[in-house]
Amino acid sequence: MSLLIRNGRIVTAVDDYHADIFVEDETVSLIGRDLEVEADRTIDAAGRLVMPGGIDPHTHMDMPFGGTTSADDFETGTRAAAFGGTTSIIDFAIQTKGHSTLEGLETWQEKAAGKAGIDYGFHMIVTDMEDDRLWEMRRLADEGVTSYKMFMAYPGVLYVDDATLFRAMRQAGEEGGLVCMHAENGIAIDEIVKLALAAGNTAPKYHALTRPTRMEAEGVHRSIAIAEVAGVPVYIVHVSCADALEEVRLARAREAQVFAETCTQYLFLDLSHYDHEDFEGAKYVMTPPLREKWNQEQLWRGLGLGDLRSVSTDHCPFSFKDQKVLGIDDFSKIPNGGPGVENRMSLVYNGGVVGGRLSVNKFVDLTSTAAAKLFGMFPKKGTIAVGSDADIVIFNPDRRETISVDNPHTHHMNVDYNAFEGIEVQGISEIVISRGRVVVEDNVWHGRAGGGNFLKRGLFGGPY
Ligand code: URP
Ligand code: ZN
Ligand code: ZN
Repeated sequence: MSLLIRNGRIVTAVDDYHADIFVEDETVSLIGRDLEVEADRTIDAAGRLVMPGGIDPHTHMDMPFGGTTSADDFETGTRAAAFGGTTSIIDFAIQTKGHSTLEGLETWQEKAAGKAGIDYGFHMIVTDMEDDRLWEMRRLADEGVTSYKMFMAYPGVLYVDDATLFRAMRQAGEEGGLVCMHAENGIAIDEIVKLALAAGNTAPKYHALTRPTRMEAEGVHRSIAIAEVAGVPVYIVHVSCADALEEVRLARAREAQVFAETCTQYLFLDLSHYDHEDFEGAKYVMTPPLREKWNQEQLWRGLGLGDLRSVSTDHCPFSFKDQKVLGIDDFSKIPNGGPGVENRMSLVYNGGVVGGRLSVNKFVDLTSTAAAKLFGMFPKKGTIAVGSDADIVIFNPDRRETISVDNPHTHHMNVDYNAFEGIEVQGISEIVISRGRVVVEDNVWHGRAGGGNFLKRGLFGGPY
């Protein structure tokens, strides 16, 4: 099967030029002006940006959490991702406390196999790491799982203490891995939550008010310090505020091996969303919570200056009607997380490129290339080059849509609300190609469940 993409404006993290792309089977085989080749199919991309497919390095499909399971499984979630221009995700396999991480990986492989419509990898969520289990980290790396996530939040659930953190970090460093950190002081936060509930403050907005930005900043500071001593590069996930970003900035200024991401929700939504009536604030209960609006511009600055290297979604949707209601009388029982995997590319393009904050190259870097590099997938993923996987998005930079759960062009996620409801975006993914196959065109799904491959990732290859 071959595919010729003609007349497009090819944009990567570093290039911007007009040329044709010839794809044979799953890879890009030729790039040039007015290519004289015969192809099974030709796409005219005149007036469109032709970019590497998006990579979302932080999603939670089919994740048991808060007494329920996230509403998108690997089939619905990856399909929705593809509609939005994302062709790879890195999700999270979870180690059950007291059990092998390899068992956890197997469980998640079973969840994804035969379902994922685009390529997927896993970070391993480590919940315990005694000395006699350290050898598993080498095995994980051999399996292509080269990054680990640990939580300073959620005591009694996913939380690990500093001793575990240090042990796992040290071993990860030895194996050439990268540690992803959910950085928040969960122990102190749980005390604040108890005080709020004792005072009768049960509404969704108390989720945000009990998780001060200082508690996130403290987690960032502490996890970076431990990682520096343990000798491992660290990637701070879902940075939500200026307070936490400042800790990243300071560490990077002294040349610590620190990388960080923010998520679309922290760039576009804010604390006022918890004021919605009738429990609607529960739609925005995610961790870290939404922050005061002024933080958003600081996060955009962090993206522009390079202290934030990637924009992910932390896609972890729960149905408002059936799942968020678990916390109707107690905000601490609302399942934490929100939807977003489908809307990331348009939101970042609109807020970044159209908004004059990012160059189009930087947009590609933040939504694709940087994640490919940090997580051991470059140059197979994250760029358009001869020999790369033909993961390509043909993007209309002028088309506008208003994001809504009711707009069939912006919502295919298996959840009954859209967190970005009512936001108008300019810049829409129109044709999406996953390893040489058109999976989305004219807002129709042409992919298939099981069409996505497991991404066996390489070791951290930084510094980037
Ligand atoms: O609220 C969130 N973020 N849910 C998913 C789990 C996590 O902390 O990343
Ligand atoms: Zn987290
Ligand atoms: Zn997450």
